[in-house]
This record gives sequence, structure tokens and C-alpha cells, in this order.
Amino acid sequence: MSSTEPAREYDFVVVSNRLPVDRVVAPDGTESWAASPGGLVAALEPVMRAADGAWVGWGGQPDLGLTPFEADGIRMIPVDLTAVDVEYYYEGFSNDTLWPLYHDVISPPSFHREWWESYVDVNRRFARAAASVAAEGATVWVHDYQLQLVPKMLRESRPDLSIGFFNHIPFPPYGIFSQLPWRTQVVEGLLGADVIGFQRVADAGNFSRAVRRLTGHATKSPVIEVAEDDGRTRSVIVRPFPISIDTANFEALARKASVQARAKEIREGLGNPRTIMLGVDRLDYTKGIGHRLKAYGELLAEGALKVEDVTLVQVASPSRERVAAYMALRDEIELTVGRINGDLSTISHQAISYHHHGYPREEMAALYVAADVLLVTALRDGMNLVAKEYVASRFNEDGVLVLSEFAGASDELKKALRINPHDIDGLKARILDAVNMPYREQQSRMRSLRKRVAEFDVQRWSREFLEALAEATRTRRGTGADVLDELGLSTETRKAD
Ligand code: G6P
Repeated sequence: MSSTEPAREYDFVVVSNRLPVDRVVAPDGTESWAASPGGLVAALEPVMRAADGAWVGWGGQPDLGLTPFEADGIRMIPVDLTAVDVEYYYEGFSNDTLWPLYHDVISPPSFHREWWESYVDVNRRFARAAASVAAEGATVWVHDYQLQLVPKMLRESRPDLSIGFFNHIPFPPYGIFSQLPWRTQVVEGLLGADVIGFQRVADAGNFSRAVRRLTGHATKSPVIEVAEDDGRTRSVIVRPFPISIDTANFEALARKASVQARAKEIREGLGNPRTIMLGVDRLDYTKGIGHRLKAYGELLAEGALKVEDVTLVQVASPSRERVAAYMALRDEIELTVGRINGDLSTISHQAISYHHHGYPREEMAALYVAADVLLVTALRDGMNLVAKEYVASRFNEDGVLVLSEFAGASDELKKALRINPHDIDGLKARILDAVNMPYREQQSRMRSLRKRVAEFDVQRWSREFLEALAEATRTRRGTGADVLDELGLSTETRKAD
């Protein structure tokens, strides 16, 4: 970590709830921060470098008292949260109100006025932090449901900025969204942006319908004409931009000799089963882990699958562990895993190899390489990048992806075996199809999936979003000034890509 040098002004500012950093503790006990190698960082790093960028976010723990610092060449601008902010804004309003509401109320959302007040307050602090580091006319890209009020707050204090917002999770149908007591404020908060991006066509449609029902603004897809207080109108673009992964990088990781060797080791460690099935999820009630276990357990109990032939590896990474719904889910899943293993495992063959851990990227890649079948059974999911990572790792062009139609990825990954996780019999039938799929069919499906993920990677996603934002801002300002040039995405660069 470095210095508290005087505030600088940045032409490109990313704002997200979490800073993309991991705390690193050296053997001598000293602590520092390293950029975490997630997809968003990979996508935005080139723009950050070309445009002199900064990232505004929270360090992940209460009361860290961090000052701005550099991690792997990225300027980090920390926003401090107190223990009460974490409880009300993060665990409360973000993850016990908005998260369940935006995921089809799979778990009932809680509505508390103190949580909302905290959400407004913390959003204001994020907006202030972004406004204080953004240069005149800078581009500010705000991410996800935790920060939906930031676009409007920013526009009020800094009308010179070009403001983008991307929602990584679904946007619910109006019948569900309308439960939110602060629904109008949220919609107006988002409409402060020049471009609002969603994962799916359906999400963008749901948002536009909410705008029609709650405000007097005219909508004509993809444009919403926002009537401002001074009588003027401002155009906001609302469109799907399905997010992706750093495909080339992920494939390179999967090809590494060390990862290949580790994949072999994993297979041997599991007793060399004929088929390894894999599930990789944050331990979240949206992921349909219980539905997956139910289908798999029934197939074993009926003898359609045998533990000598098939193993399910389930990675469930710990998440939001102080929120009651997540505690209850952990108990439920672990009880089910214990029962299935207790009833159906043998001394030499385990039915489910369960891991309540997060793993480094190399280990994840090795798991994808080892897995013959990946099960994605989400009840609702913005995109599901695990599905895309699996496809990117399968450079041998074999392996089967079983994919829920309720995950955003199913709009793009058409050659996956699509399932409705609520239909347990249908899910069981597709699992059997996956386990028994002839090699040639695996290849023809996987080739098509890989083509899609190679073509539409996260670099393309960020470029398309920033191009749409630059275009919208140019139109609003009525100038020829090219925001893309300022971001280092000149016309030549774009043509060469
Ligand atoms: C989802 C959200 C992200 C969030 C992540 C992990 O992917 O869209 O905004 O960062 O889950 O959740 P957490 O609460 O640990 O940040």
C-alpha cells in the first residue's frame, strides 16, 4: 500500500461496492493489497491504463480507515463503512431486501426503513468519493444493485460527467419490483445515468416497464426521455449488455501443465470415477443447489446412477454468512449432503465431495478440466459466469454443460442441455443425458458453445458498453468531442480489434 498523496483527477472512474482487491499477509505479518484477478478487472484494466483511471469501492471489512492506494498499477479510492453501515446497507438493504426482491423473491425480502436510510447515506458517500476524484467531463461507470442511487446523486453534483450504470443481477418484473416501498426513488436514481445496462433483454424490458408505471417519462426502446425539472428532456439509453469472462486468459490457464496435472490428481483422488459432475456456486439460495442434490440423490437411490461410476463435486463458497437466510441455507444444504453421503456412499466411493471454500483460479480451472459435466441449476441468476468459465476451459471440446433457463447465460449458450430446475424429473432426465452423451455430440455442442464465449468475451462487453456510453454522451452534449479518444479507445484501436 502506498501514500496519501494529494487527490488527483481521473478521466475514468469505476464505482463498485467492493474494491477488486485481496488482502495479502506476508510471512513477517505485514499486510498489503493486491488486485484480485476477477473478470471485471481484466476487462477494465486496459481502459484504466490508457485513460488514467481510478476505482472507488469498499475494502470488504468495517472500519478499515484506508487511504487511497495503488494495487498492481490500479489506483484504489476506498470508501469506509462502519459496522452499522455493513449491517444496514450491505447485509440489510443490499442483501436482505434488494437481492431476494431482484431474484424472484425466492427468499422473502425484508423491508426496514433504517436499512433504506443507510442505503441512501452510503450511496451518497460513494457518489461524493467518485465526484471528488473525477476530472472535468470524466466517464464514471457505476456497478450493481448496491449503488442504484449513485447515478442521480452524481448527476446533481457533477452534470459535466458521462455516467454509465451496469446491473449485474436481474431486474424483476413490475409485479415484484412494486413491492419495494422506495421503488420510485430507485428508478429515479438509476435514470441519472446516460446509459443503463442490463444482462438480458427481459431485464431491460422490466426496467422500462417500471419507468412507465412509476414516472411520467416517455419510453421508446432503447431510449427513455427523462423530463428534467427545468422543463428540458434528457435521453437515457436502456439496453442489454450480457457480461462475459476473459476467455483467452481462462483457456490459457486451463492449458497450463500444472493445471492439467492437478486435474488428473483430482480425478485419481476421487477414485477415478467414469464421470465427474461438478457444481460451483456461492452458497446462495438463488443457485438451486438443493434442487440439484435432490435430483442427483434420487438418481442414485433409484440405481439409475451408481456411486462407483459417478461422483458429484460441489464447491459452495461461503457468502454473506451473517444474513439469516444464508445461515439457514447452509444448514439445509449440509444436512442434505450428509444424508445422501450417509445413505449412498461406500467406503471407497463418495456420492458427493462437498467443499465449503473459495478456491484460487488455478484450482477452479483444474476442477473444470477434470469435470465431465457441469451442473448450473440456478433458480434465478443475472448471468452465471461459471458456465462460461467451464466452456472456456474445455479446449479438448468435450464435456457437457447442463444449464438452467433461469440463468442469463442461457440466452447465449443455446447448445447447453437446458433445464428447468423446478422440474425435478426433467432435471434427472437431462443429467442422465449428460452422463451418457456420445463423444461426437459432446463435441458438436461444445464447439458451438466455445465459439460464442470466444467471440463475446469481457473485453468486448466493456468496449461495447463504453462505446454506447460515449455515443450517448456525445449526443447529449451536442459536441464532436470523442469520449472514446479520451478513454484511449481511438477509432484506429477499435477497427484493429
Ligand atoms: C454477485 C453480485 C456482486 C457481488 C458478488 C459477491 O455476483 O452481483 O455485486 O460482489 O455477488 O457478493 P458479495 O456480497 O460477497 O460482494
